[in-house]
Amino acid sequence: MSEADDQPAADASGRVDQHGQPARQRGTTVHGEAANAGHRVLAPDDAEVEAYLEVALDAGAPERPEIDRPGGAVARGEPSASEPDTVVVLDFGSQLAQLIARRVRELHVYSELLPHDTPYVELARRRPRAIILSGGPSSVYDEGAPKPDPAIWNGRIPVLGICYGAQLMALELGGDVLPAARREYGPATVTITAEDRLFAGLERDQPVWMSHGDSITRLPAGFAATAQTPSTPFAGLADPARGLYGIQFHPEVVHTPHGRDILRNFVLGIAGARPTWTPANFIESTVNEIRSRVDTHAHETGGDGKVICALSGGVDSAVAAALVHRAVGDRLTCIYVDHGLMRKRESELLRVTFEQNLGMNLVMVDARERFLERLAGVTDPEQKRRIIGDAFIRVFEEEAAKIGRIDFLTQGTLYPDVIESTAPETKAAQKIKTHHNVGGLPDDLRFTLIEPLRYLFKDEVRLVGVELGLPEAMVFRQPFPGPGLAIRIIGEVTAERLDTLREADWIVIDEIKAAGLYRSLWQSFAILTPLRSVGVMGDGRTYANVCAIRAVTSEDGMTADWAKLPYDVLGKISSRIVNEVPGVNRVVYDISSKPPATIEWE
Ligand code: XMP
Repeated sequence: MSEADDQPAADASGRVDQHGQPARQRGTTVHGEAANAGHRVLAPDDAEVEAYLEVALDAGAPERPEIDRPGGAVARGEPSASEPDTVVVLDFGSQLAQLIARRVRELHVYSELLPHDTPYVELARRRPRAIILSGGPSSVYDEGAPKPDPAIWNGRIPVLGICYGAQLMALELGGDVLPAARREYGPATVTITAEDRLFAGLERDQPVWMSHGDSITRLPAGFAATAQTPSTPFAGLADPARGLYGIQFHPEVVHTPHGRDILRNFVLGIAGARPTWTPANFIESTVNEIRSRVDTHAHETGGDGKVICALSGGVDSAVAAALVHRAVGDRLTCIYVDHGLMRKRESELLRVTFEQNLGMNLVMVDARERFLERLAGVTDPEQKRRIIGDAFIRVFEEEAAKIGRIDFLTQGTLYPDVIESTAPETKAAQKIKTHHNVGGLPDDLRFTLIEPLRYLFKDEVRLVGVELGLPEAMVFRQPFPGPGLAIRIIGEVTAERLDTLREADWIVIDEIKAAGLYRSLWQSFAILTPLRSVGVMGDGRTYANVCAIRAVTSEDGMTADWAKLPYDVLGKISSRIVNEVPGVNRVVYDISSKPPATIEWE
């Protein structure tokens, strides 16, 4: 480590937080775009609106404990009853590392992803029941190949090495690894050659997914071979006395059908972790933690412990608000800005859910006129975004001023964003972001963030939402951009054109849901084009708008494929739109993938 690396990195303003970490840039979306910069932000659906509230309030950086994990007692060194058993996944650079952690959590065991070189003392402080070494793109012989702290081999904590992780295990403990005569990529059949707890209950021949160039050619002392393929003699290795296991294939991907059983055998069987990471337990411990934090703060400052939250209509902010509400009740105020750019019935669903069913303090701001006025005559996509961001910030400023002193701001930050913001490469990237918080409250009056979802992956947020009783339409909602329908109306946004698009969009969603396709699509929606074309309806000639339909499949929105919707579904959508939506006489289907197109049209 160089001298420079010893210094905590500072952000653009040179600030570091209380742990010597770079202060996170506030007022930016999780992807680092300034919230009101007007660019396309690629943020998860809620993050953009949350970032506007941050800017409006000049929020401080999140206070995250040095060792941040559920249960909260680890930093203080004592085990706690609410602390879940943990499996640490060491990340050697595989794109699948997060997936391993998710698979472990599907077994109801908490799993966290840590950098490959995390010192053993740091690992031990988390009291993991097991360690899993991910795969990675390097060769174990590369200069600077990533290696773990050698103390992990001491036999106290069971270790499972996957692919590169298995090769490291073999090499570091005295075996040999060589470039394979035949590389293996893709499907393969592994034959289990020995009794091994890792493979308990599995058939002798297993379809698996392989992706490696190097291979283990000699086992270290103490290890036995447990599985092989025609070209990989040591596809499985084990030293049960020391709790060390390696597999050359990837159990985390769906192409290894029994991969889940192998992970279960390791995590629950060999490591003996308790499967207590459930939505119900998570809710209970999170609610207790939030309540105690807010109470302590109120006690120390003599304040009321007031908490504020921006609702966007998306799942993250909804679940975060519902959790905080369980913890502090009336001390939470949610603000929802109805900018008039939402889809049909969405604002109403939000009001019924939060105000009527959950009895929350909900400030629903009817800003429809205000947004429309500011958008009048605007056709440029970036300008639309800038105006919407700016209008949001103004509305939030006004509403927050009415609430009075606020102690906490709730954010729906998710686990992948937390990992990303602490990863070394993003630390460097963060330094160059524009700084947004100028002026504002004196430091000692700054309120802090509550991030109740910071340990969760998106699919876990949904499960928690279901457990909290939130409506399915909210919990399983497809992503929806912060600027809403404004960027799906090509050209000027008017009240009339919004109504047209809302009706067309409603039909798309209705038919997609009726066909059982809603959850398998990343997004499906309508776009209102300014193009008009000639049509014929009844005896008359029409000259009306062209409406486009977009449906895509995607993992994360960064790339996307156009969905091969069945013709009859497309047919129904088309005829319903033309018949039911005045002003539209033609429907087209967008068959562009991303790249080169984007998902949204603007
Ligand atoms: P694109 O159109 O860039 O979209 O392929 C990728 C994902 O990001 C969403 N998106 C936005 N989300 N504010 C947001 O909050 C925006 O300005 C914005 N633009 C695009 C889009 O819906 C898709 O999920």
